[in-house]
Parts: sequence; C-alpha cells; structure tokens
Amino acid sequence: MRTVRIGLLGLGVVGSAVAKAMLDDRGMADRSGVRLELAKVAVRDLSKRRVVNLPAGLLTTDPAEVVNDPNIEVVVELMGGEHPAFDLISSALSSGKHVVTANKEVLAKRGDALLAAAAEAGKRLVYEASVGGGIPILNPISDDLLANRIESVRAIINGTTNYILTRMSSEGAAYDAVLADAQQLGYAEADPTADVDGFDALYKIAILGRLAFGASAPVDVIHREGIGRIDARDFRYADELGFTIKLIAAAQRTADGLLLRVHPSLIPLDVPMASVNGAMNMVEVVGDLVGPLWLQGAGAGPSPTASAVLGDVLRVARGIDGPGPSGSASIAAIPVAPMSGHVCQYYIRLTAADRPGVLARIAKVLGDAAISIRSVIQMDTDATSGSADLVIMTHSALEANMQEAASRLRGLDVVVELDNLIRVESYGPTA
Ligand SMILES: NC(=O)c1ccc[n+]([C@@H]2O[C@H](COP(=O)([O-])OP(=O)(O)OC[C@H]3O[C@@H](n4cnc5c(N)ncnc54)[C@H](OP(=O)(O)O)[C@@H]3O)[C@@H](O)[C@H]2O)c1
Repeated sequence: MRTVRIGLLGLGVVGSAVAKAMLDDRGMADRSGVRLELAKVAVRDLSKRRVVNLPAGLLTTDPAEVVNDPNIEVVVELMGGEHPAFDLISSALSSGKHVVTANKEVLAKRGDALLAAAAEAGKRLVYEASVGGGIPILNPISDDLLANRIESVRAIINGTTNYILTRMSSEGAAYDAVLADAQQLGYAEADPTADVDGFDALYKIAILGRLAFGASAPVDVIHREGIGRIDARDFRYADELGFTIKLIAAAQRTADGLLLRVHPSLIPLDVPMASVNGAMNMVEVVGDLVGPLWLQGAGAGPSPTASAVLGDVLRVARGIDGPGPSGSASIAAIPVAPMSGHVCQYYIRLTAADRPGVLARIAKVLGDAAISIRSVIQMDTDATSGSADLVIMTHSALEANMQEAASRLRGLDVVVELDNLIRVESYGPTA
C-alpha cells in the first residue's frame, strides 16, 4: 500500500479533526488503498492545549517547514484567511506539492491566481470543504455532473444565519436576541459580521460561480445583503402568505450572463429548502440533463468538514487525474450579469398612514415603475399613531424598476417607513 506524506497548515477546529481522523484511520487506508502519514503540522502557538495527541516532534511554528519539506507530497491548508494562506499555497504548489484547502476566503478573492499557479506547476489544488462543509458539491459538479450544462446553483450555505432565521421563525423572537443567544451557544462568532452580513455566503457562491460556470467575479461586484433587517413580523406575514425566509446564495444563467447574488429570500413553504433548519445547509443544483438536485447536510463543524478535506486528500493521494475542481477553469467563461437585471416577485412591508387613498398612491408609484401588484394585506395597525403595516406582494418585476419604485415610496408623505423589501425565489414545476 502506498504511503503519502501529508503536511498540515493549522491545527484548529478543522485541522484537529483532520489530524485525528488521519491518526485513527478507522479503516480509511483499506477503503482507499493509500495510507496517509501526518509528517508535519504548522501552528501559531506551540504552548496551546490541543484536542488531538500528535506524535512528538510534528509541530512547528514555521509554515515554511511544511511547504518546503521535500518529503511532503500533499499540503493541507486549514489556517483560513487571505494572508499568509495565499503565499503558502502558492509556495507549496511551486515547490511541487498538491494542495487541499478549506479556505473559502482565499479562493473567492485569489482563486484565479491560485488555480493558474496550480496549472503551471502541474499540481492539484482542491477545495471541496470550502463550500458546504461536509456536503459533497464541488466534486460532484466537476465529476458526476460533467455531462450537464449547469443552469443554476442556489443554496442555504451559511449555518449561522440559518440557525438565527430558524429560531426567529419558530419562536417569533427578535433578531438581536437570537443573535446574542447564538453567540453564547457558539453558533455565531463574537464578531458575527462575516456570517450575518453575508460575506461567508458570498465567498462560497463566488467559488461555485467559478467552478460551475467559469465566471470570474471580483467579490465586490457580487450583490450582497445580510439578515439584519429581517424582523419577527416578516416571518409571521410571510407564513400567512405561504412562505418562510432564508438567506440564499445563488448563481443563475441569464440572458446577460451569470447573476450572482446573496440576500434574504422568501421561500415557498412546499419546496425542499423551506424545511432546511438550524445550522443545516442545502445546495440545489439544476443541470440541463439531471434537472434539480438537492444536497443537504452539515455545512460546518469539525467532523463534517474533515470528511470533505480528507475526501480530497485521498482522491489526490490515489492519483486520480483529470480535471477536478482545479481543472475546470477551462470551461467557457461567462460574463457576470448586473443585479439590476434580476427579475423576481417582491415582498414589500411598509408602515403607512391608515387612511383612505393611501393605497392608491402607493399603487400608482408601483404602476409607474411597471410593477403590478399581486396582493395587498393590511396587517397590524397602530391606532395611536394612525399607521398600519401593509404587506404588498408584486408580480415579477425588474430589480432596477423595483429599486426606483422603492426610493419613490420612501419619499411619499403617506409612507412612514419602507421597512423591508425581500425578493421571492421562484421554483419551476419540478421543485
Ligand atoms: N470551522 C468550520 O466548521 C469550518 C467549516 C468549513 C470550512 N472551514 C475553513 O477551514 C479553515 C480553518 O478553520 P478553523 O475553524 O479550523 O480555524 P481555526 O480554529 O481558527 O484554526 C486555525 C489554525 O491555523 C493556525 N494558524 C493561523 N495562522 C497561522 C500562521 N500564520 N502560522 C501558523 N499557523 C497559523 C492556528 O494556530 P494556533 O492553533 O496556534 O492558533 C490554528 O491552529 C478556514 O479557512 C475556514 O473557513 C471551517
């Protein structure tokens, strides 16, 4: 049986689980036909207590010892962040090593350069764990689904926001209270920005956009909205209309190119994504031959992520050649389409004066922007202020028109506040 020497960069949440699974083996060598040998592990702090017992002498604080070790064939980067991960992955590739990483940030921001470096070095750069944690999604797209032209990928791909939204929905609780609780329980970081503002989901959809569609989108051109504006009332009103609310990351072919977007969406209660709850993730892939597929599982956590990392390591170690994730750069490039061309239905929640004639003025603003109303419901009313919550569902409309209408609505004297504008995901007859 062939032994492959592995160098690890990082021994944190994921690195420890990867090291442990490698050391425990659990029949992995027999199943795969290769034996993995942990040769060296770089960390920041040698004195830190570790959850895994490593054989003596493996730890170093110098990552160069890992990427330059001539006996190491595969470098597994599990440090995270753009720096110094970018330089270390580049060095590992140029010194003739294959690289496996779970690092969505470096791939979303610098993936083109890293994939070019891998191609130049003739080495593999694979990153299944960077999207969807334990859910196999990148390898199926570049392998099992290769016969398909991928039409769209839509996903609930951030466990923290899905956990928060699920609790808001089931408990009718306020965003701030659930976020604070999620932080205490370890579901959200002390600084939750990367998750709740949609950056994490954006990095992942950028990676999927490049892999499945050949779109090279700078991360700052991708439309991104977080979940901070969602109110417990939105869940109540959405439910009455037959929807729930999820943070969706999507990449869809349109006539203008690939539209990439991250924002909260109304999801019909009867589609599979509506029942993906808590920290679970789901990726929906639509291929022209296979139709829609839904892959669901743990999108984060040490063991599920180690499953994806080690799947990549074993695949590389077994010497499976051919265009895996790093080889898919050869698919025809597709331009990135502007968000202004997106077409969908909208949910508009506004606080408006509770008196005759108000609706007609709101309807005129929407009508002038070529947006037709599907339904209007007057929800909670506040007798003291003389205002009411109005929830308007539109028919399909153009994003540019909706944004124009929204700014006009905000300027109407009868509109106290345009509280929320949420896009509605549409699903084909097979969904
Ligand atoms: N956590 C998850 O569930 C999950 C899921 C999917 C993907 N990922 C991705 O996996 C990667 C690792 O995440 P994680 O949660 O395991 O992170 P983590 O717990 O913060 O671990 C990071 C590790 O990298 C080491 N490190 C950081 N900078 C270093 C440097 N300059 N030199 C040497 N070592 C350095 C740290 O050393 P010390 O231990 O000495 O501080 C630590 O061991 C990230 O890219 C993340 O996005 C994580």
